[in-house]
Amino acid sequence: MADFRRVPCGPIAFLPEGTMVRVPIMPGFVITDDRLGTVRVRSAVIGRKGGRTYAYANICRHVPLTLDLGDGEVASADGLVFLCHHHGARYRIEDGKCLYGPCDGEHLFKLEVEELDGELTLLVPTQPPPQPPT
Ligand code: FES
Repeated sequence: MADFRRVPCGPIAFLPEGTMVRVPIMPGFVITDDRLGTVRVRSAVIGRKGGRTYAYANICRHVPLTLDLGDGEVASADGLVFLCHHHGARYRIEDGKCLYGPCDGEHLFKLEVEELDGELTLLVPTQPPPQPPT
């Protein structure tokens, strides 16, 4: 079972309906994926829809790059989906599914969120313990 650490993200009131933002995660964590390989994650994308909060690792499923171009912009121009600004993959807020683009049908890596007393917290996987030298 994976262990998690808590990353405070501030008041939920700062994230009105339809908001999509990038949130730094320091230190980052590692994802290992069959297709993308081992990827270090340094930020998350968070979206609010239908009164709920959704969070994903800020890593595209096409190529292991962040959805934004370094400017924190992770929303599409129409404000309906997360957009990867590299090659245009569009991801649904509610489940992270790619609806259009080179990774059509794939999903962003989901992160768990906790909302308590109006505060939002990300639950981020802890790093695996370092391997001893062989
Ligand atoms: S890296 Fe995201 S669509 Fe290509």
